[in-house]
Amino acid sequence: MAAVLLFFLISVFSSLAAAQQRSSNISLGSSLSPTKTPSWLSPSGRFAFGFYPYGDSFAVGIWFAGIPQKTVIWTANRQDPPVPGNTTLVLQNDGRLILQSAQNQTIKSIAEGPQSASFASMLDSGNFVLYTSSGVVVWQSFDNPTDTLLPGQPLKVGSELFSSVSEIDHSRGRFRLKMQDDGNLVQYPVDTPDTAPYSYWASGTNGQGNNVSLNFDSDGHLYLLNGTSFNIRNVTNGGFATGKTMVYRMTIDVDGLFRLYSTNLNGNSSDWSMVWNSTSNFCDPKGLCGMNAYCILMDQKSDCRCLPGFDFIDRNQRTWGCTWKLSAENTCGSENQNIDYSMISLDQTTWEDDPYAILSPITSEEDCKNACLEDCNCDVAVFNKQDCRKQKLPLRYGRRNLGDSTMVYVKVGSGSEINGTTISHQNKKEQRKDILIIGVVFFVCAFILLAFSVVISYRNRVWAYKRILDPGSIGLTEEIALRSFTIAELQKLTEGFKEEVGRGAFGTVFKGTLPNGHIQRIVAVKRLEKMLDEGEREFQTEIRVIAKTHHRNLVRLVGYCNDGPNKLLVYEYMSNGSLADLLFTKERRPNWDERVGIALKIARGILYLHDECETQIIHCDIKPQNILMDEFNCPKIADFGLAKLLKPDQSGTFTAIRGTRGYVAPEWHRNMPITVKADIYSFGVVLLELVCCRRSVDVNVPEDEIVLTDWVYDCFKAGELQKLVGDEVVDKKRLERMVSVGLWCIQDEPSLRPFMKKVVLMLEGTVDIPVPPSPSSFFSTI
Ligand SMILES: *[C@@H]1O[C@H](CO)[C@@H](O)[C@H](O)[C@H]1NC(C)=O
Ligand SMILES: *[C@@H]1O[C@H](CO)[C@@H](O)[C@H](O)[C@H]1NC(C)=O
Ligand SMILES: *[C@@H]1O[C@H](CO)[C@@H](O)[C@H](O)[C@H]1NC(C)=O
Ligand SMILES: *[C@@H]1O[C@H](CO)[C@@H](O)[C@H](O)[C@H]1NC(C)=O
Ligand SMILES: *[C@@H]1O[C@H](CO)[C@@H](O)[C@H](O)[C@H]1NC(C)=O
Ligand SMILES: *[C@@H]1O[C@H](CO)[C@@H](O)[C@H](O)[C@H]1NC(C)=O
Ligand SMILES: *[C@@H]1O[C@H](CO)[C@@H](O)[C@H](O)[C@H]1NC(C)=O
Ligand SMILES: *[C@@H]1O[C@H](CO)[C@@H](O)[C@H](O)[C@H]1NC(C)=O
Ligand SMILES: *[C@@H]1O[C@H](CO)[C@@H](O)[C@H](O)[C@H]1NC(C)=O
Repeated sequence: MAAVLLFFLISVFSSLAAAQQRSSNISLGSSLSPTKTPSWLSPSGRFAFGFYPYGDSFAVGIWFAGIPQKTVIWTANRQDPPVPGNTTLVLQNDGRLILQSAQNQTIKSIAEGPQSASFASMLDSGNFVLYTSSGVVVWQSFDNPTDTLLPGQPLKVGSELFSSVSEIDHSRGRFRLKMQDDGNLVQYPVDTPDTAPYSYWASGTNGQGNNVSLNFDSDGHLYLLNGTSFNIRNVTNGGFATGKTMVYRMTIDVDGLFRLYSTNLNGNSSDWSMVWNSTSNFCDPKGLCGMNAYCILMDQKSDCRCLPGFDFIDRNQRTWGCTWKLSAENTCGSENQNIDYSMISLDQTTWEDDPYAILSPITSEEDCKNACLEDCNCDVAVFNKQDCRKQKLPLRYGRRNLGDSTMVYVKVGSGSEINGTTISHQNKKEQRKDILIIGVVFFVCAFILLAFSVVISYRNRVWAYKRILDPGSIGLTEEIALRSFTIAELQKLTEGFKEEVGRGAFGTVFKGTLPNGHIQRIVAVKRLEKMLDEGEREFQTEIRVIAKTHHRNLVRLVGYCNDGPNKLLVYEYMSNGSLADLLFTKERRPNWDERVGIALKIARGILYLHDECETQIIHCDIKPQNILMDEFNCPKIADFGLAKLLKPDQSGTFTAIRGTRGYVAPEWHRNMPITVKADIYSFGVVLLELVCCRRSVDVNVPEDEIVLTDWVYDCFKAGELQKLVGDEVVDKKRLERMVSVGLWCIQDEPSLRPFMKKVVLMLEGTVDIPVPPSPSSFFSTI
């Protein structure tokens, strides 16, 4: 199949070759078309820029044209879908290089710089450049690499290479190589912070200044230069064969390794040969095997294996990860009381260390296994001779690590098959007998107690009332592995509620230190005020719901205190304040790309609350003050799940929430039911604030700009989006996308607002966004 495809590609390429143009200067007004003139060649014919066949359509890129296998080294807008054969690529008279549809409409800009270009050139180095009339470079493909570097092309500080999804899918894959501003050149999986626990290869040159770059010479020499052009480290030693016909490329491959390849244009072997690779251990790239799977080396190749009790999501795509064989089995809860669980061991593997609880000291495997068996939230226990780390699924970054003495135990329900044998619990027979006896005794006691309580409660209703109130906290601790604190304990760990770190709709927040074995953990303790007087049951229900949430973009609940009138929640501590602090303080303001990332992460957190967690949660109070930033400046949503605990006012809505002006959806004032669409509205306002870095209502600006949502729509309608970001340089398409999504979200009519799922897809650029109507058009026309 692959061979057929390759043959197809080669024949398409060669049939197109005849029509290629060789010209050193490409003048304004020139154009390419996949069927007529597909590409511009460099003077020697080594490189070509233009349309190349991609699936059954075309993509725009640069490839080696002088060798039989047309290796693609750069793809324009690699995240975009391929374009049909009736598209044209035009170097317009305004100096922009754009893609045009058959109807002469602009689809996408391929290249444009801050100044307008006068001509373009495909150079023999493999660099495609736009120049001004005086020869100044306006834009060059070398500054925007995808997965490949060529000799003469530096990887500058702050730049990244991203692997491709596969040999035939050139969109962004799973691994990246970043030239960091601390001087270190590091490889990470995508979507991770730039911190050591996630890296899997590094040059080790951190601390060598903030302007280190990776450089590439024509003899295959790859090396790092510091800000004063001093060679601080050789990545390869160079000195490989050179000559007019030897060519090199460095690529981050689909498997996450980066390699140096060479080929001889005049040689008889037309294939690329590998000259150097970043490691010989194919399992090094973290996350190669996906979730719940680990990588093993077999015959110099990597292969993936599933955790015991798991199976591949798709057996033909073993790097996509694994899932439970029985889907019902990990729902450990009341309906599944009759399933027995056991712990299946897996040795000599390492995983991402992401425990939600660490039990220390624990020195026996049995204790560790039992601790996990007894805890409904625990899916996996990792035991390393001193402590026992309880983790939840999914596990990631797994790989075999021979000689590692850590033991991993996976909780598996009875009835699952491991290696073809069904798990039963022979070794538990004796325990069963105990359980039976305990059960009988328990029932007898319970019956007696019940009889007693009926009699007593009949006599004394007050006592009965108290009984219902009191044992709530016990029931809570059994079901969810949250720590229950007494008020005295919290008093101690906050040193008498000394350091106040915030004050919100629900109460005051204090900083505290939680000793946890030998590790100290900083926590935020929130004292709930304005609570429902008789909100006891509500409190327990809500805590239970919050405790079951688990998402990277939500602040995690660590424990709670339900001590009579004292109701407190203990959360992980977010060291970087709130998004409001960041966004509205000029000095801390994140740059455009960071803001785009933050918007998407918040959207994913809300999507989880709305659609992905067990009980749907409507936040009701989304605003920058409720989005907290962790130490890596990753946003996490706070205060979710609490809306139901507040005292309603006379009109039946929640006073405290109605207080947050500027973010509330119109239905709060219209006596309409509150649905997830209320959150969408608030998110829309936050999104627009992220775009413009200003508050939704700001009186220190010209009058027509005071209300952000109105101003944004005015600018949108007038086609003056750049006004929103002032003189900041931003990606115009992206700006338009962010603003359009924001305007859809703030539609007055709830049903016009998209659901969060759609919002995420629109922000990611996966779906097209229709032109948004005026936010208030629906109500103003009726
Ligand atoms: C390309 O254009 C530049 C600037 O106009 C000029 O200096 C150069 O000679 C041209 N090259 C060729 C090969 O025409
Ligand atoms: C261009 O090609 C696409 C896909 O092949 C097709 O749907 C579209 O109708 C074509 N447009 C014109 C004007 O031929
Ligand atoms: C598109 O532009 C070309 C060149 O300017 C012209 O020949 C062609 O008729 C136009 N096509 C349409 C559909 O307007
Ligand atoms: C580059 O490295 C050299 C040698 O270690 C050192 O003298 C120089 O100060 C460094 N330059 C910068 C900008 O750090
Ligand atoms: C970084 O170094 C390069 C040369 O190595 C230089 O051109 C560039 O201006 C430097 N950038 C900064 C911010 O110092
Ligand atoms: C790097 O390699 C070059 C030769 O390719 C050598 O001259 C130089 O000393 C090496 N530098 C370091 C830091 O190893
Ligand atoms: C190229 O082919 C010739 C004869 O066909 C052979 O002698 C030579 O060894 C080949 N060179 C390489 C590098 O394979
Ligand atoms: C890949 O690189 C490692 C060390 O970086 C080296 O030991 C190994 O031999 C290389 N493999 C090949 C096939 O060159
Ligand atoms: C499953 O079978 C493989 C070989 O077939 C063996 O190496 C492995 O230990 C078995 N696993 C369990 C949990 O029995």
